[in-house]
Amino acid sequence: MHFEKIAVKDEYHEKLMEKLVLDETDTVIDLGCGEGAVTTLIAEKVSKILGIDSSPPMMLDLLQQRIDHDNIKNIETKKMKIEDVSIESVGKFDVVLASRSFMGIHDIKDVLINSNEIANKYVFLAVFGRRNWRIEKKFYEEIGKDYPDFAPHDYIFNMLINLGIYPNIEHFDLKGNRKYDDIEDAFIRMKWKMNNLSEEEVDKIKPFLEENLKLNKEDGKLENPLDKSDLVLIWWSKDSFNW
Ligand SMILES: C[S@@+](CC[C@H](N)C(=O)[O-])C[C@H]1O[C@@H](n2cnc3c(N)ncnc32)[C@H](O)[C@@H]1O
Repeated sequence: MHFEKIAVKDEYHEKLMEKLVLDETDTVIDLGCGEGAVTTLIAEKVSKILGIDSSPPMMLDLLQQRIDHDNIKNIETKKMKIEDVSIESVGKFDVVLASRSFMGIHDIKDVLINSNEIANKYVFLAVFGRRNWRIEKKFYEEIGKDYPDFAPHDYIFNMLINLGIYPNIEHFDLKGNRKYDDIEDAFIRMKWKMNNLSEEEVDKIKPFLEENLKLNKEDGKLENPLDKSDLVLIWWSKDSFNW
């Protein structure tokens, strides 16, 4: 896989960059940086950024390819779990960012405490809202199961309040919905949580997609007009929070 194929910058990245408060002297840590679509944009605006990710080496390899290709001097990467990030393990940063990377973390409380502790100035958490993955949820509804969602934004927001942190919260108004080349592409790229499905249930996915995805005549892609990306930015300044 080549980095240019995967680190696609879209409407979300633009909106996120508008919201972040960054200074050219800032140090930033990007929790769950993936292949670095956000990391590289931030690197243009700050002094230093450390991207951490625990995925199989591929994601960080793609970011490293980009760093080498563009000769970027102020990005460092580290393979580690977000759950292991603390003052002891990484030190302090002016800005802490987690972009779309908190959805698999079960013990979110300690992660929130550590994120707050290591930040000198701001913490920004861009997380998925409850209206994501509507097609997948509709499929689960049809087979009579609950869709296994992780810590949605309201849970994180409430947890922060319980920790004495009073964050700001903003919904991104993203226009685009997910688009697919064909049914196979949708089957692969949607978030089915296959571990929770039996073989017979998995066999029902493609017929369900045939029924629910519509062809967009303008671009020839498959989509579902109800399928909106729901991202929420939860953020706070260290100056304005009290324990
Ligand atoms: C959807 S991608 C987001 C990438 C990038 N931050 C962005 O917004 O474009 C989520 C990334 O978070 C990483 N991630 C998820 N849970 C993690 C964890 N517990 N520790 C470290 N990385 C994690 C994944 O490996 C993946 O690269």
